[in-house]
Amino acid sequence: MAQDDNSGKDIAAAGSSHAEHGPEVPVGTAVISADAFENPGFPEHRKRVTDIDPKKEKSAERTVYTLFYISIVGSIWAIIAYMIFPMESNNVGEVRLNNMFVGLGIALALLAVGFGIVHWGKSLMHDVEKVDERHPVRGTDETRAAAVEIFRVADEESGFSRRSMIRNSLIGALAASALPAVVLFRGWAPQDQLPVELLSHTMWKRGTRLAIDPSGVPIKASDVTIGSAFHVIPEGLQDMEHGRLEEKAKAAVLLMRLDPKDLNEAPDRVDWSYDGIVAYSKICTHVGCPVALYEQHTHHLLCPCHQSQFDVTEHCAVIFGPAARPLPQLPITVDDEGYLVARSDFTEPVGPSFWERH
Ligand code: FES
Repeated sequence: MAQDDNSGKDIAAAGSSHAEHGPEVPVGTAVISADAFENPGFPEHRKRVTDIDPKKEKSAERTVYTLFYISIVGSIWAIIAYMIFPMESNNVGEVRLNNMFVGLGIALALLAVGFGIVHWGKSLMHDVEKVDERHPVRGTDETRAAAVEIFRVADEESGFSRRSMIRNSLIGALAASALPAVVLFRGWAPQDQLPVELLSHTMWKRGTRLAIDPSGVPIKASDVTIGSAFHVIPEGLQDMEHGRLEEKAKAAVLLMRLDPKDLNEAPDRVDWSYDGIVAYSKICTHVGCPVALYEQHTHHLLCPCHQSQFDVTEHCAVIFGPAARPLPQLPITVDDEGYLVARSDFTEPVGPSFWERH
């Protein structure tokens, strides 16, 4: 709705008689449209109930400020929850409680303030419809010349080009100011191991049993029925004293059983599954969210963060969304007692791509 009633005529005129109309419509941006339709204009303006009925207006006002007060309560609750449910140990239960209650408070605060603002805008603010005309993006020649002149004068007055020692030392200072960030980021990584090595391996190894997350109970192949899906961790993860969450963040797996006829397995991977049971990394290859949703009829896995979808029948190839790589597959088999075990670690790094993926 950015054109007025005469827009069709103006556009045509710009192409046919530019000289008569002067320079306001640059030839380079003019559009000749022989069949320009007539601007239908706005539909008849209908007043809102809050414009007509003072009681409804008052009620809308009450709703808006009530939502804002609810938002305040949500924010206060988030702070209180942070103190009531501290994360002082490595206990997963504590982390869950903290995240859930703090998250609920923040969600309530943001939702309430959002709904309040929308309701305010829709029901109480002035209901005036306006047309904002489009205009050429390119500035006029005068504006462009003025901008160049401003830079020239600034250069002249500051001596930026003339005083080369000052200029070069400033460039050096700005470049050096980024170095502390590099050192600090490096400091976050463990000192005794190469970060690339750490990111390239998980605690899965040949013979490690697949266990249910979070109980740690090993899974027998006979427990996995067609259509079912399990959230899986390596057996023994629960007994780790240190670094358990870090290891879990790399080693988490999704286990599913399909009809073997539905799996299109590559020749070099036919022994990576067991009777239709397949295991894939749960860490999304986009930015690392847990891929937690399995649709058993389509055999698709969905990452709820940005809606990447992976096809389990095709080695978890990406079929939708921003993820760039398939989910890595964990080769599995069964041991003598019928428990599902890993044949090896993942054969490629799990999670998002990083600068030194091999
Ligand atoms: S993290 Fe999975 S789609 Fe973005």
